[in-house]
Amino acid sequence: MSLSVSVLAVASEAYPAVKTGGLADVVGALPAALAAEGIDVRTLVPGYPQVRRALDETRVVRQFATLRGGPAQVLAARVAGARMFVLDAPHLFDRTGNPYVASDGKPWADNANRFAALAQAGATIAYEGAEDFRPQIVHAHDWQAGLIPAYVHFMPSPRPRSVMTVHNLAFQGLFPASVFASLGLPDDAFAIDGLEYYGDVGYLKAGIAFADRVTTVSPTYAAEIRTREGGMGLDGLLRKRSDVLVGIRNGIDDTVWDPARDFHLAARYDITSLDSRRENKAWLQKRLGLAVDDAALLFIVVSRLTEQKGSDLVLVALPTLLDRGAQLAVLGTGDPELEHRFKEAAQTNPRRVAVEIGFDESIAHQMQGGGDALLMPSRFEPCGLTQMIALRYGVVPVVGRVGGLADTIVDANEMALAAGAATGMQFAPVSFEMLESAIDRACQLWRDPVGWEHMQKHGMVTDVSWRAPARAYAALFRDLVSA
Ligand code: ADP
Ligand code: GLC
Repeated sequence: MSLSVSVLAVASEAYPAVKTGGLADVVGALPAALAAEGIDVRTLVPGYPQVRRALDETRVVRQFATLRGGPAQVLAARVAGARMFVLDAPHLFDRTGNPYVASDGKPWADNANRFAALAQAGATIAYEGAEDFRPQIVHAHDWQAGLIPAYVHFMPSPRPRSVMTVHNLAFQGLFPASVFASLGLPDDAFAIDGLEYYGDVGYLKAGIAFADRVTTVSPTYAAEIRTREGGMGLDGLLRKRSDVLVGIRNGIDDTVWDPARDFHLAARYDITSLDSRRENKAWLQKRLGLAVDDAALLFIVVSRLTEQKGSDLVLVALPTLLDRGAQLAVLGTGDPELEHRFKEAAQTNPRRVAVEIGFDESIAHQMQGGGDALLMPSRFEPCGLTQMIALRYGVVPVVGRVGGLADTIVDANEMALAAGAATGMQFAPVSFEMLESAIDRACQLWRDPVGWEHMQKHGMVTDVSWRAPARAYAALFRDLVSA
């Protein structure tokens, strides 16, 4: 048996306790996949109310008389079977609603303080351990945990090694320089090759600058972020850290996303019973108020409604889609202006366009179980999980050729179709015209039910699980502790 390694993961969300997007899916699923590789992961998350309600077998393992403005403690507990740590700091996390933004849609005013506290607690547990858990590595996810590699870097030896995973470079955790003094880091950390970003403090930048290894969530995104166009101002630093930067694509949890066992669906199915999808499609059309019509190609969108995801392009391409006789069902939340325009589109096109504004796990499953094609015209996409879920559910993804979308979908060009390898449609560059022509191609292929079913089946047997990526993380962790 190869060397077993202990890892403390730190993140601001983890499915099933708290989720706003793909980060939670990844943080929730990776520990079990890594356990199979001999890596023992425990995850530290903030004690939001929804997290505290989900805890079982809770014990206090570390107390802080004060942590950034109030008393706090770290709890060890089980959450849905997984062993986790929870930062119980009521002055920072005991508030209802979204983990990052207040009810007015603006970031919580004390986010700099909240996620500095998460990082301090994470660095402390990584350094001191808790009970019998002695992590050799601390794995920081996104800017909310970005200060950890900086804290760990300045701790006396022997210190744990650190890995920073970038899930999205667009969210950098930038705060005014005045925050720096409160962080307790040495003055020289506030430098251009440290956590200073054009005069501000960058939490993600801190992680990238000080981590022993930096990963991101797909090989193509790992290449894109080293360029000026894709680097969001951090490409210089990322190029500098090229020798420790690697892209490992995400997987999906195939126990959560399994059409054969999905209790959200009207009819469960697998590759041998694709016909049952018809029942799901009819059920979905009815539930959403669309015309129940098996012949109409039903496009779905399950997404944050933002510029990143190209949601505006979907709206512009809508007339073409409708002109070809297709339907559109959207589940999403995000930019209020886009939400409004989608709702208007649904009102203007009753029975052809349905829009659900909200975050609803159950409808997300039902859309994947009954939709025919997924629209994901992202302008950039670090990895994307929705298109991999679609593959597993026999939904044909129509995606922009960027980031993880480029790595996970095989475009239905003539060669791929002839070889029976196609799983979806890619288009580049990401523009309204190219999306429109991809929609056109999808509508043409839809008219060939045998060919369409081939694509569905090919998608369903594509390995989008965590097995291969977990092996890659395990190899990286082992390499790091033996370095
Ligand atoms: P991102 O993390 O950038 O939002 P991903 O594709 O990586 O995008 O992951 C999105 C995850 O969030 C998927 O599990 C998807 O099903 C889910 N999701 C997105 N929007 C919604 C929504 N409105 N309701 C329910 N689930 C959603
Ligand atoms: C981010 C990215 C998405 C990725 C997810 C999980 O939210 O936008 O592409 O799949 O993180 O890594």
